[in-house]
Amino acid sequence: MKRLEGKISLITGAAQGIGLATALKFAREGATVVVCDVRQAAVDEAVKQCQAAGATAVGFVMDVTQRDMVDAVVAQVKEYFGRIDVLVNNAGITQDARLQKMTLEQFDKVIDVNLRGVFHCAQAVADTMTAQGSGVILNASSVVGIYGNFGQTNYAATKFGVIGFTKTWSRELGPKGVRVNAVAPGFISTPILSTIPDKVIQEMEHRVPLKRLGQPEEIANVYAFLASDEASYINGAVIEVSGGMSV
Ligand SMILES: NC(=O)c1ccc[n+]([C@@H]2O[C@H](COP(=O)([O-])OP(=O)(O)OC[C@H]3O[C@@H](n4cnc5c(N)ncnc54)[C@H](O)[C@@H]3O)[C@@H](O)[C@H]2O)c1
Repeated sequence: MKRLEGKISLITGAAQGIGLATALKFAREGATVVVCDVRQAAVDEAVKQCQAAGATAVGFVMDVTQRDMVDAVVAQVKEYFGRIDVLVNNAGITQDARLQKMTLEQFDKVIDVNLRGVFHCAQAVADTMTAQGSGVILNASSVVGIYGNFGQTNYAATKFGVIGFTKTWSRELGPKGVRVNAVAPGFISTPILSTIPDKVIQEMEHRVPLKRLGQPEEIANVYAFLASDEASYINGAVIEVSGGMSV
């Protein structure tokens, strides 16, 4: 039997990068995949890829900052499939600048997607999961949320905030059978790194004991494990997946 057989799994930001790798991994592990992202064409393409991997998959244009959209998607998923087993709160953005240069717009945008968006999605599925007496919520944090990073005041705050969400929700929802965990990736090779100069990427690689960036699939594997029943006693944890960057 596959690890995620029959689990109805909603993944945000699933059209590229870590989210897409996670959708495909979940598809191969037998999950029913609900692909959510902001661009229709990219959502359609991701759904096709999940279906080609053998899964039942549906897609929605859903901006996590828009609560109406999130509630409408959750309602439709419940109508189609009757339940929601897994939420992967993966959608996230960066808008980098040093403290003295950061605009309020940059600050607000990142807080809106990375913090408010995660709150919206978790709140939207929580009643369903607690009524089921089971469910898994997985949140995308970052090593930057634990150790900080030059030029990422807004992003680091959100990723640290996500750890606060994770620990709080693991206490609130754990007694109802819902597990909540976070993954803190190191530097992973996805389009989110596209604005970073090659020289800085090389320095990042050098800092990692494994001497390379991570691949999106290496984060997807951890989400799949945490979503599965194999992780049945893991709750409130923050799993760092960084090639040993912080050692
Ligand atoms: N790549 C890394 O090095 C790294 C490291 C640590 C944490 N992370 C986190 O992992 C997650 C995925 O990162 P990635 O590298 O795959 O990023 P990415 O930029 O490649 O993909 C992010 C996806 O989220 C979507 N998205 C953006 N805003 C959205 C919104 N408002 N509503 C719905 N979807 C939205 C984008 O369209 C995109 O498809 C993010 O939360 C990121 O902060 C990434």
